[in-house]
Amino acid sequence: MAVNERVKELRELIRKHDYYYHVLDAPRISDVEYDQLLNELVELEEHYPEYITEDSPTQRVGGVVLEGFEKVEHTIPMLSLGNAFNDDDLRAFETRLRKVVDRVEYVVEAKVDGLAASLKYQEGKLVLAATRGNGVIGEDITENVKTIRSVPLVLRKPITIEVRGEIYMTKANFVKLNEQRQRNEEALFKNPRNAAAGSIRQLDSKVAASRVLDFVAYHHAIKDEDAELSHSETLSYLKEIGFKISDYRVCENIDKVIQHVQTIEEKRHHFDYDIDGAVIKVNEKGLYDTIGYTAKSPKWAIAYKFKAEEVITKIKDIIFQVGRTGQITPVAILEPVEVQGSTVSRATLHNEDYVKLKDIRINDDVMIKKAGDIIPEVVGVIEENRTDQIAFEMIEHCPKCQEKLVRTSGEADYYCVNDACPAKAVETLIHFASRKAMNIEGLGERIIEHFYNEGYLKSIPDIYRLKDHRDELVLKAGFGEKSIDKLIENIEKSKKNSLELLLFGLGIRFVGEKVSKVLAYHFNSIFDIMNSDEETLLAIPEIGEKIAQSIIDFMNQERVKSVIEELEVLALNLTSKQVRKEGVFSGKTFVLTGKLARFTRDEAQNEIEMRGGKVTSSVSKKTDVVLAGEDAGSKRDKAEKLGVKIIDEETFIDWIK
Ligand code: IVH
Repeated sequence: MAVNERVKELRELIRKHDYYYHVLDAPRISDVEYDQLLNELVELEEHYPEYITEDSPTQRVGGVVLEGFEKVEHTIPMLSLGNAFNDDDLRAFETRLRKVVDRVEYVVEAKVDGLAASLKYQEGKLVLAATRGNGVIGEDITENVKTIRSVPLVLRKPITIEVRGEIYMTKANFVKLNEQRQRNEEALFKNPRNAAAGSIRQLDSKVAASRVLDFVAYHHAIKDEDAELSHSETLSYLKEIGFKISDYRVCENIDKVIQHVQTIEEKRHHFDYDIDGAVIKVNEKGLYDTIGYTAKSPKWAIAYKFKAEEVITKIKDIIFQVGRTGQITPVAILEPVEVQGSTVSRATLHNEDYVKLKDIRINDDVMIKKAGDIIPEVVGVIEENRTDQIAFEMIEHCPKCQEKLVRTSGEADYYCVNDACPAKAVETLIHFASRKAMNIEGLGERIIEHFYNEGYLKSIPDIYRLKDHRDELVLKAGFGEKSIDKLIENIEKSKKNSLELLLFGLGIRFVGEKVSKVLAYHFNSIFDIMNSDEETLLAIPEIGEKIAQSIIDFMNQERVKSVIEELEVLALNLTSKQVRKEGVFSGKTFVLTGKLARFTRDEAQNEIEMRGGKVTSSVSKKTDVVLAGEDAGSKRDKAEKLGVKIIDEETFIDWIK
């Protein structure tokens, strides 16, 4: 047999056995026999490198080292799910569905506790894998995903499809990994989920390859032609084309759903991997559009979260936090305890009434849980353990600025009403830079507080003036030149953020992520919002009186007006994107590769997007233009192979002129 034929045969054999092992969970050969096949292929490829292909099973060992993860825009947003915590919530889910459809059949799946990922296949080949990110934009983790053995590099049918599922680490692999890390005196991972997340974000794919991960498919981004399939049929289809899927059951009514969810909960500890609940989906996909979506999640599915573990610990102290709006929150400082895989050392006590109602005192033994959520909560006091407790007393003055606190009658919360309160300023900055707002990596709580105390950061515009103090900041202890430069780069990058992120970041009362999005959609710029009156705002369906009034009050403050003016001078994007979507590059998809001399990547991307074009991270037949800078590598080669147009920086500059 000719070498290339044997190479091909080996690949097919290995793929087949991967399928038996990972998907069907029924290996047909021993590990030793499997290794022999793989070794033979490795040796042949070593001797005949011309036969190596990107999708060969030998390519799972990793080797590519990235500088960072490129952002990828999801073709269809990756939604999350609404939650149910008990049977009543499930029945309410059914009631909501029955308002729009007559009869519903459900599919119940185990909810694997890992991280969501989206895998794109073109003509059967894996071309792109991305994290969920914020649901709209994720990160390109293709190199690392290729090392996951339960992810097929080649599907069993040459189809183009986007498959979504969960990347996770089995409990056994998690234990092994931590044992090894302990031996190497490395920090241990808290739980399999963290270990999986940490591994998938390794820049060196060899390291990722060493952290055995798994993938289970649960969904594929819906295309018209398969809306006819039911969800259970989709799952079998996913299995057929090469994916591991989680156990599922079709239930013909909500009682059966409740029963099955209970069964899963009872045996949750028997699974090889952590599960944190069950996912319930309407089986008939043809109904999905009728049932509809909220801004964040489909209405045809819900996640049932298992009851949280409860543990006992002691309250060492109760402190008071000042929020962005001046709201005062009592917080319990706890004897640190493990709850659901992470250490908890504080829990919110919400407000004075809550503490009094539960009669929580310093030195009390209390029951703690993390109800489905991530936020630790005090469930109750163990009264029989009481000895020398200290009664709770609400403070009367702001712990930061000593201003007398105000409690509006009828409200549970006390507020610090001092506009110059440093705690409020710091919280405002923290919120602005946070992940869901302007997402300025490196500008976290500690640094903000430090810069605030040093006088560099008093208000939001100061963030964009930090670069003027670069050298001073470098001289100050604790900050390396590199980290300051990286921070400044991230700050600069955030100037181009969309209007909705900026609006959310400003922290207008009642204007959360969703309303920010709505505002950015309806107005062309922040100035249009500032100039709008109540009537205009109320004409927007999602905006009621409370929100409208809050926006007007906010925008009318002199402080706010001057912040916005300063942000304009500092060249932040204050406009909505949709006003400049059309241009010479409309409908064209670009890929950037290599080093450009005159632009950073973001700048080049911006130039393209401003002219209506789109930038994606990997080259495919759908790519129209590859802009190749210096040292362009595999993407350029791929473009050549596919016959995609390649241009250099000079040509690009000509074009945009
Ligand atoms: S369906 C639009 N099915 O849970 C469909 N999600 O709380 C969205 N998850 O982001 C997801 N197992 O990361 C779905 N069988 C399953 C799942 C599952 C785990 C995760 C997923 C999602 C999160 C939502």
